[in-house]
Order: sequence, then C-alpha cells, then structure tokens
Amino acid sequence: MSWFATPSPNGRSLATGALIMLADPLSPAAEAYRSLAANLQFAYADRQLQTIGITSAAPGEGKSTTVANLAIALAQGGRRVIVVDADLRRPGQHTLFGLESQQEGLANVLLGEYPHLPLQDTAAPGVRLLTSGTATADPLEALGSRRFDHVLALARAQADFVLVDTPPAGALADAAVLAPRLEGMLLVVSAGRTKRDMARRAREQLERVNANLLGVVLTDVRGDDKLYRY
Ligand SMILES: Nc1ncnc2c1ncn2[C@@H]1O[C@H](COP(=O)(O)OP(=O)(O)O)[C@@H](O)[C@H]1O
Ligand SMILES: [Mg+2]
Repeated sequence: MSWFATPSPNGRSLATGALIMLADPLSPAAEAYRSLAANLQFAYADRQLQTIGITSAAPGEGKSTTVANLAIALAQGGRRVIVVDADLRRPGQHTLFGLESQQEGLANVLLGEYPHLPLQDTAAPGVRLLTSGTATADPLEALGSRRFDHVLALARAQADFVLVDTPPAGALADAAVLAPRLEGMLLVVSAGRTKRDMARRAREQLERVNANLLGVVLTDVRGDDKLYRY
C-alpha cells in the first residue's frame, strides 16, 4: 500500500468548486495529483487496473475533490477518463465540473431509463462525467444491482480509467457494496479532520469485503515538508 499527500495550496484553501489542476497546475497540490496519477498509470500498465473507487471514513474529507483532480491529471497524461459520481447521497461532481444543474446520469441508467451512458463532456479535455443523475434510486439497492456492473463494463470499454466517487466507507454500506466490484480502491484520509480510529475502521471494512486497497491519499496537509514527503 502507498501513501500520497495532497497539500492545501499555499496560503489559501481549495475553494469549493476549484479544480486546482486547471486553476493552478504548477502548485504543490497539482504536483501531488500528478504523482498519484503517475502511480496509477504504472499499476495500469502492469495489471490492467481500470476501475478505481475513491472513498473515505466520513464526508468532507476530500473524496470528490480527489476524484476530479486525479481525473484531470490522468487525462493530461494522455488517458481517457470517465468519472462516475456514485455518491448518490451527496453527489458533488457536477458542481466541481461546473455543470449548470444536475443532468441525467447514473441513477437514470440504474433504473433502466438509458441503454447507454449519458456522459457529459467537461471543461477538462479527456475527462467525461457520468453525474449521479436526476432519478431517485435507493443507493444501496441500485449500487448493488447487476445494472451497476453493466455501467462499469460500458464505462470501461470507453475509457482507460474509470474513477468512481463513492459514499464514505465508515457509516454507510454503499462503499462496501461497491468496493468488491471495482478493481482498486483509494482511501482518502484528511490530515486535519479524520480521526485515527475512524480511518482504521474504514480500512478494516474495505479489507473485510476483499477490496483491493491501492493506497491512502492524505488530504489537507499543510505546508509541512516532512509530512508532504511521507
Ligand atoms: N487536498 C485537500 N487539501 C485541503 N482541502 C481539501 C483538499 N481536498 C478537498 N478539500 C476541501 O475539503 C472539503 C470537502 O471536499 P470534498 O471533496 O467535497 O469531500 P467529500 O467528497 O469527501 O465529502 C472541500 O471544501 C474541499 O475544498
Ligand atoms: Mg463528495
């Protein structure tokens, strides 16, 4: 398992909706996402690791931000990326990518409204988005359904990487339902917010369902060089 640190940009916090990969590509934070992307490209070449879920112990630790910036970093490295917003409870990818409003997406496909994936182009070339959608589906049931496997297969066929923004692993069963069906999982841990035992529980929960835990992404790391390199 590897550790990756994604520091806060110097002197300012990541404003909601800010995609640091686009806003400030030379910042240490952008560099951190590029290094994470490079590691995944390695794993990809090795073992065909295409579908990757990003989760955390609790909300607000930086899952969605990590998914969006990592997607852009991979696309800037020449890969085709599809972002799937599977956090049906607190979806955020449409906001991060600046779509005016929620569009048809995952929930619509899971309810059988679409035979194909209604993908949206984003401002980042090479990154396409399957939003959480406009339909209301029971998250646990929808994400556990055979149709979700079909969504993954369709996305896989149209991209090099499929990044899945998932609900937190700590409290809800959604992430545990998703994890075994994805080829790899990244656990986001906030240096400032995550409690040690919550992170441990999330990790244990992922291990119990035989998730392939690729690494831990440390967010909200502030200006401390040592921690950054760790
Ligand atoms: N690497 C980071 N460093 C500092 N703050 C971050 C980082 N990533 C995200 N944030 C901030 O943390 C908050 C929650 O991020 P978000 O990605 O929505 O979390 P989640 O999807 O886990 O709920 C946002 O205000 C975001 O700007
Ligand atoms: Mg989120």
